[in-house]
Amino acid sequence: MGKAAATAARVEELRRLLDDANYRYYVLDDPTLADAEYDTFLRELEALERDHPELADPQSPTMRVGTTPSGKFAEVKHAVPMLSLANAFEDEEVAEFVARIAKETGDATPDFSVEPKLDGLAISLRYEDGEFVRGATRGDGATGEDVTANLRTVRSVPLRLRGKAPKVLEVRGEVYMPKAAFEKYNAWAREHGEKTLANPRNGAAGSLRQLDPRMTAQRPLAFYAYALGEVEGVTLPPTHSRTLQWLRELGLPVSAEVDVATGAEGLLAYYRRIGEKRNALAYDIDGVVYKLDRYDQQRAMGFVSRAPRWAIAHKYPAQETPTVVESIEVNVGRTGAVTPWVLMTPVQVGGVTVTRATLHNADQIARLDVRVGDTVIIRRAGDVIPEVVRVVEDKRPLDAKGKPKFPAYQLPTECPVCGSAVEREENEVVARCTGGLFCPAQRVQALFHFASRRAMDIEGLGERFITALVEFDMVRSVADLYKLTVDDFVAMKQRADELADAVPAHADQSKVKSGKVATKWAENLVAAIDASRTTTLERVLYALGVRDVGESTARTLARHFGALDPILAADEETLRQVPDIGPVVAARIAHFFAQPHNREVIAALRANGVHWPEGAPQRSADGPLAGQTVVLTGGLSSMSRDEAGAKLEALGAKVSGSVSKKTSFVVAGEAAGSKLAKAQELGVEVWDEARLLAFLAEQGG
Ligand code: IVH
Repeated sequence: MGKAAATAARVEELRRLLDDANYRYYVLDDPTLADAEYDTFLRELEALERDHPELADPQSPTMRVGTTPSGKFAEVKHAVPMLSLANAFEDEEVAEFVARIAKETGDATPDFSVEPKLDGLAISLRYEDGEFVRGATRGDGATGEDVTANLRTVRSVPLRLRGKAPKVLEVRGEVYMPKAAFEKYNAWAREHGEKTLANPRNGAAGSLRQLDPRMTAQRPLAFYAYALGEVEGVTLPPTHSRTLQWLRELGLPVSAEVDVATGAEGLLAYYRRIGEKRNALAYDIDGVVYKLDRYDQQRAMGFVSRAPRWAIAHKYPAQETPTVVESIEVNVGRTGAVTPWVLMTPVQVGGVTVTRATLHNADQIARLDVRVGDTVIIRRAGDVIPEVVRVVEDKRPLDAKGKPKFPAYQLPTECPVCGSAVEREENEVVARCTGGLFCPAQRVQALFHFASRRAMDIEGLGERFITALVEFDMVRSVADLYKLTVDDFVAMKQRADELADAVPAHADQSKVKSGKVATKWAENLVAAIDASRTTTLERVLYALGVRDVGESTARTLARHFGALDPILAADEETLRQVPDIGPVVAARIAHFFAQPHNREVIAALRANGVHWPEGAPQRSADGPLAGQTVVLTGGLSSMSRDEAGAKLEALGAKVSGSVSKKTSFVVAGEAAGSKLAKAQELGVEVWDEARLLAFLAEQGG
């Protein structure tokens, strides 16, 4: 054999070896290679492929490492929709489910495939002629996001199927973060002062939706198959359980806990058996799933709305465990919201270590009366942050006189970050730091919000960098971002690295390589900031972070005023006239834009080249409704209130949010309430939807 042929053979051998190792590890649960051996072979293969580019293969095990960030996820339409499941909580509901199926299929003892209900993220993998070509999230069930690049980094997702693969095979399953990976990530995050993950599910979701697949590759996820989507070019087995077996043969991992059971007793026995094992499982589950096994019987049962009638999820209750409160801390958010949380003696809840739990707000603290030293019950449920459920009162530490050793907890009256007063408005549950953007905590959060995807969409500018920029006082307002240079970022990174005793592997991108500082990441960041200069009014309004101005209010404002200056000039009263803007939000907007420092930020953004198209307000001064004020209330069936308002404005009307004697007419849709009553009381003309539609049609719109 010549040298080239020998190399090619070795490359093939290594690929097979590594693919087999993955298969044995993830599908057969019978590992043959130690991690270190796997890595050695992988490195050898990488070196050979580097030296012999002609041997490249996109499905090689070396091609799992993330590629460069994609910017955004493309949409994927699911050929077969991704459904959800009906839930059962009680044994009786399971019995009813089985009885219903027995009755409708005429089979007294139908078989069920019984499976753990994994608590991760539903995804769909598409294989064409055995090659992994696309992976997508569930999205709304009809359309998801293309996360192929991220899924390629998941080692239990085969890049190529084994044996005889059909022409098209879409496999549905759950991507999840194993508990061990979650623990490992959090231990690392705690050590490096990074944000910890609230639970494995959040870990999986955050990681899969990372725009940078290199980040996904750093957080080990896993996959289990549990259903099919589009299939072409193969005759399927007659049952679901045999299909799962076939998927295993194709190299797709299926949970080892799946089984077949019969009768309500059989299903409930499975539920209890898995319930007992729940904590010991390597992954989080929130229930089990029962699926009628025979496909012909599934077809006979059919679907209701978006769930099959032949399957049901039987949920387990949230997991609760006692632990002890070591301290009560507060966190300061973007809008200054002061959120209390407890630091606890680390405890296993459902097989996962938890050290922090939220107390939500001051009312909750008062209700629970949580104090330092208390034994509390912690709950971890599905995708929420662990929370304190209650205090075990008879375990409260007492002093010599039998009085509680620690006083009732009071929220701090001064912000722990900037020292400004913490205040709570009347009728508000949330207390807030009054420091505004003077408060570094709020500055970090404000910048984070500004850069986020739905706001200015500055790719790669994460919380870690923002924290450093604020900490080193390199950025005071969002406008300062636009002055940063590559050198600034490199200097910031060096300072941050000097402060950190160890550099985390995945953030280690500016490491000195062959004597030169790698600056590509900083160039990318500066380019991303530059790209965000060209934007829309709606995004800017949202990005500024005015309290209670979400995307939809930002859109309303942008459409209504057309340009920023009229918004800056608008007083509270004018803002209140904008449809869908109530008095509270109108006051907040007016207050925000009246602040000199906010006006300065806007001027600085403009001076730094941030720009957006501006137009006339979408209202005409000479239409058939010029001079008329209209109020829309209730739900319309043919269009949204926003759309109706826009149409009326286009005809010259002023659309207002409140009814007064000056109102020309009120359009009242379904379930109209107090505004309709007010109109009737004031004798204001009322139109129903039919009259509105007839009028619009007359006007040619
Ligand atoms: S079957 C047609 N099987 O639960 C049925 N779903 O509530 C489609 N899930 O979106 C789903 N483990 O994310 C199925 N063994 C399992 C599952 C499972 C977890 C999730 C999945 C789905 C949700 C439905």
